[in-house]
Amino acid sequence: VSILVMNGPNLSRLGKREPEIYGSLTLDDINRGLADAFPEVTFEFFQSEYEGALLEKLFELEDRGGCSGVVLNAGALTHYSIALRDAISAVIMPVVEVHLSNVHKREGFRRTSVISEVCVGVIGGFGADSYHLGVQDLLKRVEKE
Ligand code: DQA
Repeated sequence: VSILVMNGPNLSRLGKREPEIYGSLTLDDINRGLADAFPEVTFEFFQSEYEGALLEKLFELEDRGGCSGVVLNAGALTHYSIALRDAISAVIMPVVEVHLSNVHKREGFRRTSVISEVCVGVIGGFGADSYHLGVQDLLKRVEKE
């Protein structure tokens, strides 16, 4: 089982960035936590501040034969990137949308996600556990295949 954990803009700043909202773990801590919790999974971890780099990553992976699925925290791109939405619908791999914070408890603009419709599900508000729940869902999907 191979899973891509992909993070968009500003998630490289975790640990320093608004810890009262996003917690004190760094992105490396979160990624290490996933690798420790799911030793049977081959993870690929990718983060970029750039929209296009996220699209390229999805396409590059798809062209290599794909993976079991993608856990994606698209950051603010969630709320407006039609390009990211189209890329998710262009690939066969299932994509789980995750958020550290509960986006429904915050500013109104965060309540809109343009990617949810093309993702298999949405998990938010559980901090690093949101990623773990995303991986669990993808593992269940692989079992059912
Ligand atoms: C986020 C929520 C987004 O609204 C925000 O722009 C982020 C992080 C989260 O993980 O809670 O960058 O995706």
